[in-house]
Amino acid sequence: MTKTKFTLSATDGLARRGRIDMPRGAIETPAFMPVGTVGTVKAMYPEQVRDTGADILLGNTYHLMLRPGAERVASLGGLHDFMDWQRPILTDSGGFQVMSLAKLRKLDERGVTFRSHIDGSAHELTPERSIEIQLLLDSDIIMQLDECIALPAEHKEMERAMELSLRWADRSKAAFGQQPARMLFGIVQGGDDAALRARSAAGLASIGFDGYSVGGLAVGEPQEVMFRVLEDLTPEMPKEKPRYLMGVGKPDDILGAIGRGIDMFDCVHPTRAGRHGHAYTAMGVVNFKNARHKDDPRPLDANSENPNCRRFSRAYLHHLVRTEEILGAMILSQINLHYYQTLVKGARAAIEAGRFADFAAETREGWAKGDL
Ligand code: GUN
Repeated sequence: MTKTKFTLSATDGLARRGRIDMPRGAIETPAFMPVGTVGTVKAMYPEQVRDTGADILLGNTYHLMLRPGAERVASLGGLHDFMDWQRPILTDSGGFQVMSLAKLRKLDERGVTFRSHIDGSAHELTPERSIEIQLLLDSDIIMQLDECIALPAEHKEMERAMELSLRWADRSKAAFGQQPARMLFGIVQGGDDAALRARSAAGLASIGFDGYSVGGLAVGEPQEVMFRVLEDLTPEMPKEKPRYLMGVGKPDDILGAIGRGIDMFDCVHPTRAGRHGHAYTAMGVVNFKNARHKDDPRPLDANSENPNCRRFSRAYLHHLVRTEEILGAMILSQINLHYYQTLVKGARAAIEAGRFADFAAETREGWAKGDL
């Protein structure tokens, strides 16, 4: 008997409102998953991450296999105890990070060999080893190993990577076996070609997964290309399973993708932007590096539900960013994750009320007004 379940409770156009029930907790969708690459959402305590409204975090096979090592995490009781986050964790399979971070990569039918970006040591990731690592980490939602290529790309290259990813999907499913308390997601590839994407989605559906990710987007293409790919693709994906757009994005990308039928998102952007002095708000992005905040006694957003938006003056936030104080990174990471969670919470309520298009338009109007 499976211990996980995805329930769709409302739709509005292509937008979907749902819930994934898992033994470690429920995930309300559309969901934004903060990224905790190496077993920490940078500059945040786990309970603070939860308090922003996050139901689930993301961890990375690539980073954790190199440091501290999957077997070590397993012997210390798994990733949840290691970082003291007791809710669901989704792990990426490693292929994408190998391609963007590792040195001397070699990819063939069997998998990918590479050298660590940390100490140059040699490693191999196969579909089977990636699943094994994710099980050692005790991940709740596991990704197949795939090959993600940058765009623009030749049709032949997009087709080759898509077909290799499908064969790896098959091997990943076999390696995963029966894991009733976890979910295994296949990853759709196929670049910006609608026919390749449809073939990828159909191939994955015939293998049968607990959810379907969309990979290979936000890899250099304009937003309109990403939206067109999603519009063509989501009607080809199984309706009764969650859909996860990997590595996306900015708030505007998330609104656009929800409107095209996506249920789950992850991105380093809110925390990374926070560490670089940028705050996401209902009035758009505020850059605290800018000297115009130097003498501004007003809080960031007096109307926000987030205490950190009401508590500190803009002048103080500017000062923390200018002096590169750790507290500046902590406050702005919290503010950005809180804003992202407010955005998906608002989207969920709007879909339930059948007014998602109005919600998206009003939200974009708020960003356009600016912060003054
Ligand atoms: N993260 C962002 N894009 C991708 C992708 O295409 N594949 C994987 N595995 N992770 C990603």
